[in-house]
Amino acid sequence: METLDYDLIVLGSGIAGLTATIHASKASSGKIKIAIITKLHAMRSHSVAAEGGISGVLYPEAKNDSLELHSYDTIKGSDYLADQDAVELLVKNAPTEIEFFDHIGVSWNRDDDSKIQQRAFGGMSIPRTAFAADKTGFFMMRALYDETTNLKNVDILHEHFVYKLLVENKKFLGVTVLDLATGSSKVIRAKAAIIATGGAGRVYDFTTTSHSSTGDGLALVYREGLPLKDMEFVQFHPTALVPNGILITEAARGEGGYLLNSKGERFMKDYAASKMELAPRDIVSRAIITEMEQGRGFTDHESGLEYVYLDLRHLGKKIIDERLPMIKEIAQKSLNINPVDKPLPVRPAAHFTMGGIHTNLNGQVMADEGKTIVKGLWAIGECGCVSVHGSNRLGSNSLSQCSVWGRIAGTAVAKYLESTAEVPMSKQLLRREEVRAASLLDKDGNVDPYSIKAELQKTMGKLVYVYRTRNGLISAKNKIAELKEDFKNIYIKDKSKIYNTNLRDVLELDNLLELAEAITACAVNRKESRGAHAMIEYPKRDDTNWLKHTLIYKTKTGIGISYLPVKITRWKPEPRVY
Ligand code: FUM
Repeated sequence: METLDYDLIVLGSGIAGLTATIHASKASSGKIKIAIITKLHAMRSHSVAAEGGISGVLYPEAKNDSLELHSYDTIKGSDYLADQDAVELLVKNAPTEIEFFDHIGVSWNRDDDSKIQQRAFGGMSIPRTAFAADKTGFFMMRALYDETTNLKNVDILHEHFVYKLLVENKKFLGVTVLDLATGSSKVIRAKAAIIATGGAGRVYDFTTTSHSSTGDGLALVYREGLPLKDMEFVQFHPTALVPNGILITEAARGEGGYLLNSKGERFMKDYAASKMELAPRDIVSRAIITEMEQGRGFTDHESGLEYVYLDLRHLGKKIIDERLPMIKEIAQKSLNINPVDKPLPVRPAAHFTMGGIHTNLNGQVMADEGKTIVKGLWAIGECGCVSVHGSNRLGSNSLSQCSVWGRIAGTAVAKYLESTAEVPMSKQLLRREEVRAASLLDKDGNVDPYSIKAELQKTMGKLVYVYRTRNGLISAKNKIAELKEDFKNIYIKDKSKIYNTNLRDVLELDNLLELAEAITACAVNRKESRGAHAMIEYPKRDDTNWLKHTLIYKTKTGIGISYLPVKITRWKPEPRVY
C-alpha cells in the first residue's frame, strides 16, 4: 500500500481548512510540508455556498458598536449555552480576519467613503456583517485558494476521501484515504492534523447544504471513541427555497425583506415584536412552523411541502440587483420567479451543525470531559465545537469562527511541530489498513444503500426537526437502529475502481448513520427547550438542570453520554426575549 509522509495534513478545503493552511505555512516560514486532503476539488467545498457575510465589529465609534455588544448578542443568541471565553475570543479576533480577507483580495461591498459596508443580521443589535454581495463565501474561497496555490510547501490532494483516522494512545498518526480517481487506498502519515471537514446537513432531507456535507470528520473522530459535543443542536435556517432547499440568505431579511403568511400578515410581530424578521434563526423557524401548523401557510402541491412567503418586492430592483443578485438568479433559474415581482416560497431547512468535535479553546481535540488532549489533532470550523454558538448560532458568526480558529489552529500547529518528532507507524497498523482497503468493495448483501439514505433523511426531517417530541425522538432512534442493521447487509453495485461514486456514497452513508444516531440520542436525553432544541413536553429552558454541554461517545458496548459545565465569564443567563 502506498504511504505518503507530511508534517501536517489538513482535512477539508473550505474556509477553515485553507485559512489554517496559510497560517501554519506562514508561522513555519514555509518549512513544514503540508497536504490538504479534500474529497472534492477544493473550490467545490461547501464554503463557496456561504452567502450573507461575516460578522465583526469594524467601526465601533461610528456605529456605536462594541466587542461587548457583539459578545452579548452571540451569547444571548446561543440561549446561554455558548462558552463565553470562546465567544470573547471570536469577537476580539473577527475584525482582524475581515482585514486579512481584505488584504488577500476579497471585494467587500463598500460605502462611498470606501469603508466596508455591514448589513443587519438576525439577533445582532447593530449591522455588523461584512459582505460581498450575496456570494461572500465564494469570494473568500477564491482569495484563499489563490493564496494557497502559491505556497510551495503545500500539496492539495483533490478528490481523496478519508475513511479512517489513525489514532493510537491518544496521539494522531495519520489517515487512510481512497484516491477517488484511481480507486487505490493510501496511508498518509503526519505529525499533526487539522480537521476542517464541515457539517452534517445531509443527515436531513430538506437542507441548504451541499450533497458533500456528510459530517465525515465528525464520524472519523467519533469512531475512534472520542467525544462529540452538543450534537442535539442542529440549526434550521428559516428561509430555504421550496421545493429545492437552496439557501435564500438571511441578508434578504437584513436588507428589509418581510415574511408573510397566507393571510398576508407579517406574522413575526406575534413572536419577536422588537426584532421581527431579524430575530435569531431558532425563533423565526419556530414561528414559520407554527404559522403553517395553524393553517396559515401555503402548500406546494408537487412536493407536498408547506411554506410561507419571503417578500422582497418593496426593496426594488436596484437593491436586489446590487446586494442580492445571486438569490435573484437562483429564484429565476430554479422556479422562474423574479423576486422583484413576486414573493418567494420558503420554509426552514437544516443548515448548520452547531455541535461537533469536542475541542478546547485552541481548537485541540479533547479525549474526554477532563483535560486530556489528543496529541497532534485539531478540529475547526463547522466540524469543531469550541462552543461559540451554543444552542443557536447567529447568522454570519460562522465565517468569523472558521477564520478565527483557522488562524489559531494553524499558528498553534506550526509551534507544536517545532518540537514534535515523527511517531513510527507499526507494521501491524499498516497491515490492518491494507486489509481494510482490500475489503472496501466487499459488500454483496441485498439492501440498496440509497433506500437507507432516503429513509434516514426522511426520518430525521420528520421526527428530529424544528419541534421535537419525546415519542418522535424515540421512534427516530429506533428507526436509525434498524437502518444501521440494514446497512450491514447492503450491496455496492459498482465494483469498478475509477471514480466509484457508489463506493463514496456508501462511505458517506456510514458517516450519516453514525451522526444521525448521535444527534437523536443527545436530543432524547435533553429534557428542556433551549435554542434550536425545542421539545414539546419541556417547553422551557431549564438552567437548574440543563445549563451544560452534552458529550457523546461511541463505546464498544454502545453509546455513552456525559455532561460538561458551560463557561460563564460575564453574562449571567437571563430570559431570552426579543
Ligand atoms: O443566510 C445566510 O446568508 C447564512 C449565513 C450563515 O449561516 O452564517
